[in-house]
Amino acid sequence: MADPDKAMDSAGLTNPRVREYVRHWAEITGADRIEVVSAADDARLVAEALDAGELEPAGEGRYYSRSYHKDTARSEERTIVATNDPADAGQYNNWRPASEMKPLLEGKMRGALVGKTMYVIPYLMAPPGSPLDQFATGVELTDTRTVVLHMIRMARVGVEFVNDLADPDSFVRAVHVTGELESLGHGTPDDQRYFVTCADERTILHFGSSYGGNALLGKIAHGLRQAAYDGWASRSFLGEQFMLIGIEDRQTGRTYHVAGGFPSASGKTNLAMMQAPDALGDRYHVTFYGDDIAWLWVDPDSGRVLALNPEYGVFGVAKDTNEATNPNALHSVDPGTGAIFTNVAYNPATQEVWWEGKTPEPPADVTGWLDWKGHAIADREPGDDAPWAHPNSRFTTTLANVPNVAGDFDDPKGVPVDAIIFGGRTRDREPLVRAITDLAEGVYDGLTLGAEATFAAEGVDGQLRYDPMSMRPFMSYAEGEYAAHWLRIIGAATEQPIFAHVNWFQRDPDDGHFRWPGYRENLRPLLWLLQLKNGEVTGRETAVGILPTEEELDLTGVEISRADLDAILSIDVDRWRQEMGFREEHLKQFHGLPDEIWEAHRRVAAALEAADQ
Ligand code: GDP
Ligand code: PGA
Ligand code: MN
Ligand code: MN
Repeated sequence: MADPDKAMDSAGLTNPRVREYVRHWAEITGADRIEVVSAADDARLVAEALDAGELEPAGEGRYYSRSYHKDTARSEERTIVATNDPADAGQYNNWRPASEMKPLLEGKMRGALVGKTMYVIPYLMAPPGSPLDQFATGVELTDTRTVVLHMIRMARVGVEFVNDLADPDSFVRAVHVTGELESLGHGTPDDQRYFVTCADERTILHFGSSYGGNALLGKIAHGLRQAAYDGWASRSFLGEQFMLIGIEDRQTGRTYHVAGGFPSASGKTNLAMMQAPDALGDRYHVTFYGDDIAWLWVDPDSGRVLALNPEYGVFGVAKDTNEATNPNALHSVDPGTGAIFTNVAYNPATQEVWWEGKTPEPPADVTGWLDWKGHAIADREPGDDAPWAHPNSRFTTTLANVPNVAGDFDDPKGVPVDAIIFGGRTRDREPLVRAITDLAEGVYDGLTLGAEATFAAEGVDGQLRYDPMSMRPFMSYAEGEYAAHWLRIIGAATEQPIFAHVNWFQRDPDDGHFRWPGYRENLRPLLWLLQLKNGEVTGRETAVGILPTEEELDLTGVEISRADLDAILSIDVDRWRQEMGFREEHLKQFHGLPDEIWEAHRRVAAALEAADQ
């Protein structure tokens, strides 16, 4: 057994409550060694991981890792929110009593680190000194070195973040044990994996994965589930799966900020790393604040909604990232960035990586190339066209590597939010953009976000489903309360953000092509939205919001057919009338939904009934 006090003394970890917590779990897990880590340990840990074969070199300060082949995405089914109050149960949070889950997880973790090292990762979600500091601190304990390396890239890591807490007890206890991945019954009735957030005790217990949000507990478990719960319990902020960008208009000198919720693998990172299209690049510049999580609150002085990104890095989808779709994303993983690629294709001889869409065709000379499972491409049967990279393969890089990162991304005061947008992969019905000026209708729109699920979660790829504000997998308390909390927080602002629903993914039903070119061109509907908020354009009223007229949308240099443009700038009233019935069933599942939301629903339904075809 390790001596936790010795390890904590030598690392200078002084917070007495953190020390107690580390001792407690050292005892339960039976860890042989304890190591307290800081960001400064990165180079040494990378060298150890390379030695141990946990990482492989991917060219000049970049690394490659492969996860167990069944452990490649978040598991929604195995994710549970456990509290002491049954009233916290909602439709989507898989609520269970804390009294049942805590002993179960403790049982799975008991003795799990015998012969192993327990890494202690003190971290901060948020730039230091933010008004939400008291919710931002955590300490992850993990048995997996690559998890430490990912955490160092994705969060601010070091003992300094826990030593001087005003309340030494106000940190999230986040325990992660990978376990023996081959024997956990992935996807069988006897699945042993549990990803549990004990939200009212600020304790996270994850067992059975070393992948992404299942294992880097600062990101989703703390930054989203726990933060959403804390924000609600304290009545003080919203924790959302939002990207956050600045749009600088060099002509007027103004900068706008847009926050937006899209389900996983639906375009947040790409939007945040956007390079303005060439035709608009002289005037506009998009800056990156965040690509996956935003915390929002109202500043009592200015009356504005403010937002910050609690993360310190990016965990981005590799697929289809290339020089044309997203040069910034590509350069954020340039040589020398310390980036880690996971589950892409890899060539150990040349240290190159490849994923579908990186180039139009895979490397012509397949010599040395391994697919994401580590199998040689050269050994494939003729006609085997399985993807080389896993569809959910990812890159991990620190914000400072992002070419368009905002100059003030590290500023703890947050940025004022001008617009809040929702979107997802919706093949029909949803136009390119529809603006909503009423708060309750905006919240209603978020709650009724319907989109295709993606490969970022196990077993649901392609399924059309409602995903309220893109938070379905991260919801930590009941949806009715969630809606009320949104109305409470945003309703307290004296200058309301404008809302909008966007869709980059409408398809032609005949051949399936995307009707809108997307990626960099997505700036155009956002500019229209900001002009609408400023009163510079008026748009066209419809039953479901204000749509741009073709003239108002700057389409200089966009290649799009007449039929596609007509389709994405119009409303199919019949299809929408049908949708309202589905929405009603969806909303009925939420107990205690505020009247304002039902009224918004009825207003939209009535407007659709009255609408012309
Ligand atoms: P996130 O997981 O929400 O951050 O989504 P990403 O930005 O990582 O994108 C997920 C996938 O969608 C990637 O394969 C992107 O190439 C693709 N994608 C992103 N934006 C667009 C777009 O505007 N149009 C199309 N067709 N695909 C997009
Ligand atoms: P994503 O982030 O939303 O960028 O895919 C990871 C996740 O939500 O699992
Ligand atoms: Mn996400
Ligand atoms: Mn992303």
